[in-house]
Amino acid sequence: MLMRYLGLESSCDESAIAIWETGKGIVYEQVLSQVDSHSPYGGVMPSIAIREHLVGFQILLEKIQLSVDLKRLDGIGVTHGPGLMGCLGVGLAYAQSLQLILRKPLMGINHLQGHALSPFMAHAYAPSFSWEQICPHLGLLVSGGNTLLFKMTHKEAGFTFEVLAQTQDDAAGEALDKGARLLGFSYPGGPLIEQAAKQGDAKAFQFPEAFKKCDEWQFSFSGLKTSLRYFLDKHPKTWIEHHKSSICAAYEEAIVNALTRKVSCALQQTHYQSLGLSGGVANNERLRHACQRIAQHYGVPLFLPEKSHCGDNASMIAFLTSLKLEKIPTFHLNPNLKINED
Ligand code: KG4
Repeated sequence: MLMRYLGLESSCDESAIAIWETGKGIVYEQVLSQVDSHSPYGGVMPSIAIREHLVGFQILLEKIQLSVDLKRLDGIGVTHGPGLMGCLGVGLAYAQSLQLILRKPLMGINHLQGHALSPFMAHAYAPSFSWEQICPHLGLLVSGGNTLLFKMTHKEAGFTFEVLAQTQDDAAGEALDKGARLLGFSYPGGPLIEQAAKQGDAKAFQFPEAFKKCDEWQFSFSGLKTSLRYFLDKHPKTWIEHHKSSICAAYEEAIVNALTRKVSCALQQTHYQSLGLSGGVANNERLRHACQRIAQHYGVPLFLPEKSHCGDNASMIAFLTSLKLEKIPTFHLNPNLKINED
């Protein structure tokens, strides 16, 4: 039977809605990014984000009604954590209004689980797709706020997530954004570092990597950012400008090496049926290629989200709603929700 699910996402600085249809996948999606409003502050300003979500969802819902009959929905999913409390609250208020007007079930969706499953969105509606062939799955989730290596298993009751490694301090995306700021780039700096790095030589300089051993199940990126600061302090501005692309390439390489080293360690030690990459930093070509090489080496299929689904989006929320709607109808907002919680 054809089922349609609406997803709403508002955990940080993107207001987004999307519809997932069984057998078809994503049939509608819209994202309103707030990047331009936060860029002058060098990061996300919660009060601005809340104001923009309030306006953004009004625009998004007026627009969707022009082309979609919302009465034909079978359920609604909304991100209930983790994220900024005020931002989550705006998404939930709109979702609850829709629930009341449309009289459809409402489900709270874990944002991190949404990212974790985003690599499968382009495949999961195919009749031949089976989670038994995918799981146990090794996932690397890298965004501005999270750096998680996890094991995902699937049973009749649903998915379970086990965190294998996470960052002790800065997230990988945060390290890219902070490094970019030191180099004079605007926010968010990850894509700008990548762009500059394309003309550079990653081997020209070496930045330190923490927790290199396979039995050290954690990431750390704050030392890397500090070493970049000391490196820049030691050189004149003109020299830095001249070598900027290679500095970017070496800094990006250090982050990619630290991330993928743990992926290799996990694949060496345990049998996984697939590897996945997700989150905003999954846009990065150096990281995507490094994961492709590792997946090939260990003979596991690699699942990558489309670039439009790496950053925050509602498509992953609508997709996860379609997988979970029968279960857990009650939920609470939780800004600190962990990947293995509902
Ligand atoms: O998942 P995401 O959109 O949301 C938050 O965590 O807020 O991730 C944003 C992060 C930022 O740190 C941004 O610099 C990084 O993803 N990012 C990238 C690229 N595109 C976005 N990092 C490296 N290369 C990219 N192409």
